[in-house]
Amino acid sequence: MNKEASTIEKKSRTDNSDLIQQIDFSAIPKHVAIIMDGNGRWARARSIPRIQGHRAGVKAVDEVVTCAMEIGIKVLTLYAFSMENWQRPKEEIRALMYLLKEYIIKKITVMKQKNIRFMAIGRIEELPRDIQSLLKQAEDETRQNDGLILNLALSYGGRTEIVDAVRSILKDLSGERIRIDQVDEALISSRLYTAELPDPDIMIRTSGEQRISNFLPWQSVYTELYFSPIWWPDFRRTEFLEAIINFQKRERRFGLTGEQIKTNKGKEDAF
Ligand code: FPP
Repeated sequence: MNKEASTIEKKSRTDNSDLIQQIDFSAIPKHVAIIMDGNGRWARARSIPRIQGHRAGVKAVDEVVTCAMEIGIKVLTLYAFSMENWQRPKEEIRALMYLLKEYIIKKITVMKQKNIRFMAIGRIEELPRDIQSLLKQAEDETRQNDGLILNLALSYGGRTEIVDAVRSILKDLSGERIRIDQVDEALISSRLYTAELPDPDIMIRTSGEQRISNFLPWQSVYTELYFSPIWWPDFRRTEFLEAIINFQKRERRFGLTGEQIKTNKGKEDAF
């Protein structure tokens, strides 16, 4: 290989310009949701403590957030701590909370500079108080930003989210602020933690597991699922761009026929 070709190859390996060229910038998914799985296995393969796997996972978060911003994704939701994760060993929970705290403290300034709006969804009230106030500070200080929305799912469970939505609706029913006939899909969506956000277009899960594990069950009924065998700490820019390219090759039909989608005719034709 001559010198010029080798320089080009090296460059495209580091900035993924070859992958960037394959991206259709007119069809970027608005909302990407990620189940960041495999930190523990990544650490075990290196005979290092699990928490080191989570720490390496934060680097992958940084890279994916940067790439999402660069290609113009509107919302990135990361499953950082599930309701089920509360059952992990106390030491691991403590370490994860520490990482989270460190992350927010470090990133508030960066998010302000980079026009990122920060959000957190889940039973936030169950997190340690210092983390709750940091999350609130990050949300308050970035509320005006209109770039990427970085949404962390923390103490999040999809079924719990639905329970919370039902409770909020029942309160309004018993207070006669709404009537039963007003309860519809739109009302339920508006009572979820994600009320302000569009449904995810693609949900990525790393580490080879192929299930959604209580992540955004209501919102993901028409979401494209993408499973990667790569452990989360190794899921970087290249792997993220590959997922987006894969998504862009799919035909999303939302229950219609392929023909209807092609001719841009939807529901109106059906009734
Ligand atoms: C799943 O891997 C990952 C988690 C439970 C935590 C995800 C957390 C991070 C990536 C770091 C913190 C994030 C932020 C934004 C500060 P696992 O532990 O279940 O892996 P395993 O299945 O291989 O054991």
